[in-house]
Amino acid sequence: MKAIVYTKYGAPDVLQFKEVEKPAPGDKEVLVKVHAAAATIGDLILVTGEPFPVRFWSGLLKPKHKIPGKEMAGQVEEVGGNVKQFQPGDEVFGDLSVCGLGAFAEYVSVPENAIVLKPANLTFEEAAAVPESSVVALQGLRDKGKIQPGQKVLINGASGGVGSFAVQIAKSFGAEVTAVCSTRNLDMARSLGADHVIDYTQEDFTQNGQQYDLILAANGYHPLADYRRALSPKGIYVGSGGSMAQTFEAMLRGPWISMTGSKTMGNMLVKPNKHDLVFMKELLEAGKVVPVIDRRYPLNKVPEALRYVEEGHAQGKVVITVHEAEPDKSLHLPLSQYVS
Ligand SMILES: NC(=O)c1ccc[n+]([C@@H]2O[C@H](COP(=O)([O-])OP(=O)(O)OC[C@H]3O[C@@H](n4cnc5c(N)ncnc54)[C@H](OP(=O)(O)O)[C@@H]3O)[C@@H](O)[C@H]2O)c1
Repeated sequence: MKAIVYTKYGAPDVLQFKEVEKPAPGDKEVLVKVHAAAATIGDLILVTGEPFPVRFWSGLLKPKHKIPGKEMAGQVEEVGGNVKQFQPGDEVFGDLSVCGLGAFAEYVSVPENAIVLKPANLTFEEAAAVPESSVVALQGLRDKGKIQPGQKVLINGASGGVGSFAVQIAKSFGAEVTAVCSTRNLDMARSLGADHVIDYTQEDFTQNGQQYDLILAANGYHPLADYRRALSPKGIYVGSGGSMAQTFEAMLRGPWISMTGSKTMGNMLVKPNKHDLVFMKELLEAGKVVPVIDRRYPLNKVPEALRYVEEGHAQGKVVITVHEAEPDKSLHLPLSQYVS
């Protein structure tokens, strides 16, 4: 089969498009024919091995997993003897960071607990955009952010892979949502359900006197003190992404602020799990959440896809089309561009 392979850390150019052996499913594994994957900042981090601490997970001197790619959607081709939940033909999706990556390939063998049946109303490309980004947003808002109906919730970085899910998930919990993005993304944020939009090129939401019960910092940077000022008296700040400075500031100062005052501030790290993916599947099938896809690239163009993601201005998700899917399922949002 064809796959994207790497044996050393570096810029996306280290990735090679190669013929490799097709995997065989183990006893409790499922062989999935990958239809689509997603290219994210997280994949870029695993390819470059930067920031360095990621290597304690991905391999200290060289990558432990030769085929990268976390988010995937595809069709079950074969099942191991002890597989209980799936059969050939099932359409599935999942986050392979729990089981050794491998989404940038024509086939991948995964433990049955790493995948879930794909939402019936989504194409493979839409489904591949979901598994990690949406669960980051869900866990940030629901678990760390303790989101409640009627709360004023602000999403910074609302137009990106995580942010575009966060706006919709926060709305599904009944929150009043303010989306922060740049001028060209304001309409998109509104179309995702944001009640208010703030153009970060025109206005700094930390300086306008407004306060929020929950802030999800999905991207960008503001000093933690500014975020703190923008929180209501018992407000919660959840840092899920953005600049390293923002992450470190919240890691170092967040616990002290939380212990000494009424506001809670801290970071979150996604914990991929089947339960939350099923939760997302239900929201997607109910039409409460729709994946936003910016561009799609073929499998041999993963390096280009990652370079585009690296620029930091993707509108929603960037998808890798591995096997072209059935033509009868229409997309919710038009694909703005196909890079061949
Ligand atoms: N905590 C976790 O477990 C976890 C898991 C996965 C990812 N992450 C992190 O989450 C972050 C977001 O990921 P992502 O996939 O959403 O990234 P992304 O899709 O690459 O983000 C791009 C988006 O961010 C917007 N943006 C850039 N600078 C901004 C600013 N200063 N203010 C507001 N918006 C800005 C861009 O809009 P414009 O073009 O308009 O600027 C663009 O739409 C990353 O830092 C990633 O590493 C964390």
